[in-house]
Amino acid sequence: MKIFLDTAGLDEIRTAARWGVLDGVTTNPSLFARVGGSYDDILKQISEITPGPVSAEVVADDVDGMLREGRHFASLAPNIFVKVPMGEDGLEAISRLAGEGIRTNCTLIFSANQGLLAAKAGASLLSPFVGRLDDISQDGMEVVRELVVMVETYDLGAEVLAASIRHPRHMTEAALAGAHIATVPLSVLKQMIRHPLTDKGVVQFRRDWDAVQAADQARAETANEPATP
Ligand code: E4P
Repeated sequence: MKIFLDTAGLDEIRTAARWGVLDGVTTNPSLFARVGGSYDDILKQISEITPGPVSAEVVADDVDGMLREGRHFASLAPNIFVKVPMGEDGLEAISRLAGEGIRTNCTLIFSANQGLLAAKAGASLLSPFVGRLDDISQDGMEVVRELVVMVETYDLGAEVLAASIRHPRHMTEAALAGAHIATVPLSVLKQMIRHPLTDKGVVQFRRDWDAVQAADQARAETANEPATP
């Protein structure tokens, strides 16, 4: 499963890239609002940090506006994927952008049927929002599971990108469900790295190592002491 970072924060993206686990980045208007500045500049810089897909989201609510924004984003870097919200206009924009060779990520998917339609329209990435469904007491991961089966059964040529990931268990479940990609905040990635037994083990190994070094040192010092007459 590929791992994307769900952020517009350059430092966070550089951190995940240094760890060697970064396959791409997803942004959205809310994530961009947290960092501010120029969305274009940020997208260009992200696209230089990672050669993987970088999602840039349109905010227009009509087809022409989505196409205009989508073409502009796609001109910024070769690895930009245009993020288009699910809906009638969104499907048309996805279909037309696909016709122009521009890759899209259909966002705000909350049912497998929505994902099926987005794939049929030509979306390259399908983003079911797991956490937001969990928030309203539905099983968000079920949409991922269903969509993966649909995409693979009918060879729809799209990848399922588990989004709105809130905790490490979501990542495990997304991987087991066969999600092709999961996009995750850096905080969740950090949680995935840590385990109390790992921390405890590192401390213990270091303590045992230091004890041996100290014993060796004491032995050497004793051996070098002049013999008493
Ligand atoms: C990613 O493409 C989505 O924009 C993101 O995962 C949404 O996550 P949230 O529900 O935590 O805002």
